[in-house]
Amino acid sequence: MGRIRILPDQVANKIAAGEVVERPASVVKELLENSLDAGADELRIDVESGGRRLIRIVDNGCGMLRDDALLAFERHATSKLRDVKDLLSIATLGFRGEALPSIASVSRLLLETRSQEETTGTRIEIAGGKMLRCEEAALGGGTVITVRDLFFNVPARKKFLRTEQTELAHIASLVTHYSLAHPDKTFQLTSGPTELLHVTPVASMKERVYQVFGSQTLEDLVDIGIKRAELRMPPDPEDPEPVRTFTVSGFFSRPQVQKGNRNSIYIFVNGRLIRDRLILHAISAAYHNLMPPAAWPFALLFIECAPEEVDVNVHPSKTEVRFRHGSFVHDFVRDALRERLMETRPAPSFTPGAHAAATQPAARLPYSEFSQMIENEAPQSGPGASAWQPPPAQELPDFQLRPAAPPAQRLDFSAPPIEVAPGPAPSGKLSARNLDAHGTFPPEAVPAPEFSLSVLSELRPLGQIHESFIVAAGRDGLWIIDQHVAHERILFEQVMKQRASGSVEMQRLLMPLIVQLTPEQQIDYARIAEELHASGFETEPFGNRTIAVKAAPAAVAASDIERILFEILEIAETELRGASLDDLRRDICAGIACRAAIKINTRLDAAKMEWLLRALAQTDCPMSCPHGRPIAMHYSTRDILKAFHRI
Ligand SMILES: Nc1ncnc2c1ncn2[C@@H]1O[C@H](COP(=O)(O)OP(=O)(O)OP(=O)(O)O)[C@@H](O)[C@H]1O
Ligand SMILES: [Mg+2]
Repeated sequence: MGRIRILPDQVANKIAAGEVVERPASVVKELLENSLDAGADELRIDVESGGRRLIRIVDNGCGMLRDDALLAFERHATSKLRDVKDLLSIATLGFRGEALPSIASVSRLLLETRSQEETTGTRIEIAGGKMLRCEEAALGGGTVITVRDLFFNVPARKKFLRTEQTELAHIASLVTHYSLAHPDKTFQLTSGPTELLHVTPVASMKERVYQVFGSQTLEDLVDIGIKRAELRMPPDPEDPEPVRTFTVSGFFSRPQVQKGNRNSIYIFVNGRLIRDRLILHAISAAYHNLMPPAAWPFALLFIECAPEEVDVNVHPSKTEVRFRHGSFVHDFVRDALRERLMETRPAPSFTPGAHAAATQPAARLPYSEFSQMIENEAPQSGPGASAWQPPPAQELPDFQLRPAAPPAQRLDFSAPPIEVAPGPAPSGKLSARNLDAHGTFPPEAVPAPEFSLSVLSELRPLGQIHESFIVAAGRDGLWIIDQHVAHERILFEQVMKQRASGSVEMQRLLMPLIVQLTPEQQIDYARIAEELHASGFETEPFGNRTIAVKAAPAAVAASDIERILFEILEIAETELRGASLDDLRRDICAGIACRAAIKINTRLDAAKMEWLLRALAQTDCPMSCPHGRPIAMHYSTRDILKAFHRI
């Protein structure tokens, strides 16, 4: 007797209805989920042209009986659900009986399947929803589904598909992450002749993360372990189990790893990959005060709970869920991550003062931004890590002005001393003639704030605060300049100019640097290899998902090359979602500039500070860094006089 049934209308009507197939990746998702539901532990996915021309999934699952294979293409035909009450506790990935008919209606589909219980298999061919062929066939156990020419009969939908590379990147990301959720299974993904992923069973998720992302990523990640929480239900005679258990496991990045979007957050609930605002909020709450609000970490979270605790029937593509006890789950996830973040923070990059604030999510220290910046600048590992020293904790909240270190030349008594204060009267006196009897200035006597950027070239550096911000006096008051972002702006414009004239300065590496890529990164790399080369990175493919870097832009330290490359690939991934080549180019230059710029917590002598201010004045846009952060704060003479009640 067959396993698949057509759902009665009253059940079918309760299922969230809507578009199932949006793009090739949604076909892959549905087919992959079916194979997992069928108990497969070997899954092979072949695609061509980003899945537009071909998607084929081969599994070694339970297969389908002949009658079931025919029924499977009817709407609401499923083996996973019987009646309405089953909808309240769904333990399988599929439940609607919608996927196969939806896919078959917009493609040319071939199903080849054999259940263990039958000696011969079944081959069914459907095009645009019409059955063309159904026959017995000698087949091995398991199921092969081949989907060709997606949307061949719906040209309007076809037009909305993005480039092959974009669609392929979505597929690669999806398969990669399902492979992470199932470390005990084999996953293989090929695009034409290229193998993008091939992972064999391993004992732990950690090993799977290593297989997929390599050792570098693993080092940057924190393993959550398994955190557990219990929710006690009010006494109920109908409920024999008044305690609900939730667990969260997986990996997330340390605060130094900051992404501009949420694309690196993957949330699985009971093995289902979902998007969920509640959990996203819990993650960002866990990083509160540790990361700027617009930044996102990498996270791979697996939340497990009883099926009754989560309603998966809320979105037609099964990508959203509703938790029955949403706020409990939110707080549990937030606290679990927060606790691990606190436990694993490397001591030197954290100051006791900031720690106290960080453990109270609601607290916002006035210098929280500053401590965040320190976080951002801290090298994460590798050479140079030990050179980075956090500012002493007690210095943070105070405003301490350190006199500019005398320029080195001063020590050479034979050389004429260098004047540190050039420029026309930067410390010009306010005319005493304008003072009234109380020492107050009439408003018209105060110079109007000067907005011309030429004033920057006349600034006189007075010193540094926290070896990070230059304090300078100018014709019109006081300036505080962020040394890192100022230098970033200078380098950015320099690199852009070199890039435009095709004269990027490069350094050849003594030994090529071998960099391992994830399947997604490999796709992005193939797309932007030429652009990388034009920006000073000489690279070439080196075996499977590995590239060799032979030269890099001269401005970049050797120890930063790999990280910059990853950052650029990440930009390229965002660029897939709409930005232009020009934006990509600018972002690459910004990435190089950011890595090469003077860090905060770096002592500068007066000559260096002066150089920086002059060079900044000569840039086209000296007021904000390439990422949009402000470079300088200005207190005009008028502001100062006002603050002292002198006007
Ligand atoms: N790879 C497979 N191996 C074995 N059986 C399968 C496979 N794919 C589909 N089936 C059978 O076909 C049925 C219909 O699949 P379909 O994906 O359309 O619906 P579903 O998985 O039940 O629900 P949903 O629409 O939510 O995915 C499934 O219930 C299952 O019994
Ligand atoms: Mg399904």
